[in-house]
Amino acid sequence: MAKTKIGVLISGRGSNLKSLIDAVAAEDFPAEIALVISSQPKAAGLQHAAAANIPQATIDHRDFQTREDFDAALDAALHMKDIDYVCLAGFMRMLSDKFVDDWRGKLLNIHPSLLPAFRGLHVQERMLDSGVKIAGCTVHFVTPEMDAGPIIGQAAAPVLPGDTVETLSARILELEHKLYPRCLRLIVEGKARISGAVVAYNTGITTSGTLINPPASD
Ligand code: GRF
Repeated sequence: MAKTKIGVLISGRGSNLKSLIDAVAAEDFPAEIALVISSQPKAAGLQHAAAANIPQATIDHRDFQTREDFDAALDAALHMKDIDYVCLAGFMRMLSDKFVDDWRGKLLNIHPSLLPAFRGLHVQERMLDSGVKIAGCTVHFVTPEMDAGPIIGQAAAPVLPGDTVETLSARILELEHKLYPRCLRLIVEGKARISGAVVAYNTGITTSGTLINPPASD
């Protein structure tokens, strides 16, 4: 059976792109990455696409006068490759409402916090400043309001004494690399779907385990 086609949009390092590339390499993964688009010509993540022989394109926002023109170029490139779902993975451009509406239910993002807490930028720094004891990441559908779309999945990690932005980011990133492929698979397999403002799982998905911080001392 033909695999579902994924487009991944990046702007930088591309470690989440790499985790998706590694995941789809499994024979039973129901999707393939058919296109990687970077908004930055020098994005390091493009090397992951090249190493995996995935078609890539750079669409530099500086070449376009308006956001709408830039988004139209993205849209055209995605349609050229018959892309079914788009994964934002460290894509640092705001998308226009039109683009988001056109791809509604097909556009996923990963964010390094347990949404709806800590939307926006400088998330890890803000988490440390606020004193939260549990951090994490979220994969969600994109809607016009930033970081506010239906949540597909989340993963949690403790904030530890002495954490810096770097150590906390690294701990969350490790979880991101597990969570994003898992959520993509659920969506592509139809095991999770949008139901109103939330994502509902089909029965059969069970979750266990607790994270308590500080942990019990005994
Ligand atoms: C990740 O922390 C992701 O959650 C956020 O941007 C970062 C991208 O990292 N949206 P990478 O480019 O995937 O390494």
